[in-house]
Amino acid sequence: MEIKKAIFKQSASSIFGCPKPTLQEYAFIGRSNVGKSSLINMLCNNNKLAKVSATPGKTQLINHFTINDSWFLVDLPGYGFAKTSKDNRSKFETIIYDYCKKRETLVVLFVLIDSRLPLQKIDFEFMSWCGENEIPFSIIYTKADKNSKSELAKNIKNIETELLKEWEEMPNTFITSAEKKGGKEDVLDFIEFQINENRSPRETRKDAADEEE
Ligand code: GTP
Ligand code: MG
Repeated sequence: MEIKKAIFKQSASSIFGCPKPTLQEYAFIGRSNVGKSSLINMLCNNNKLAKVSATPGKTQLINHFTINDSWFLVDLPGYGFAKTSKDNRSKFETIIYDYCKKRETLVVLFVLIDSRLPLQKIDFEFMSWCGENEIPFSIIYTKADKNSKSELAKNIKNIETELLKEWEEMPNTFITSAEKKGGKEDVLDFIEFQINENRSPRETRKDAADEEE
């Protein structure tokens, strides 16, 4: 899939301010500064779409973008950044957790992980929470350009070895670089596949829950 049209729809400070759930939705989340906004801009061929910053905590709202008039892409606030007060942090976490659990049109949550770091406790805890709450997620490794290919492969293997100590299998994973536009097609083709699979956005997560009953 090629993104031909990406239009900012609206920002919301809670799930109640989100657009009407009329389209399928694909959201991006991860630790602050992991590269969410950069990745979104890369996917959309638009460097001005989502705000990128070297200062963690830039994205503080739920931002919806309408893509190709047919689905929503969502930029979520980062979790676990150190420089905000505890009160603020819990406010963001409430926004994130509420959105992930309750947004019925959310098809896949992409959890971004920095490809240069060992598995971070907070990422592990967040993904485990997703598992417990049956939130479908995939992993996107970011900033792949910052390491050599062999270091990258070694680091990802270490992360996955750690995860598989706790999990039976890995979710879908993607390796990306916003800087070098790496992994773009893999992510977009995966979204396209999901869009075609899930005909009725409103039913998406309800269907899955019903099947399990
Ligand atoms: P918050 O909105 O604060 O939660 O951050 P974010 O996750 O949206 O990160 P953002 O996209 O703002 O990027 C953070 C920093 O990492 C910026 O300085 C980016 O230029 C840099 N960065 C992001 N992606 C890449 C990448 O693929 N390669 C390299 N080399 N740098 C990147
Ligand atoms: Mg951001």
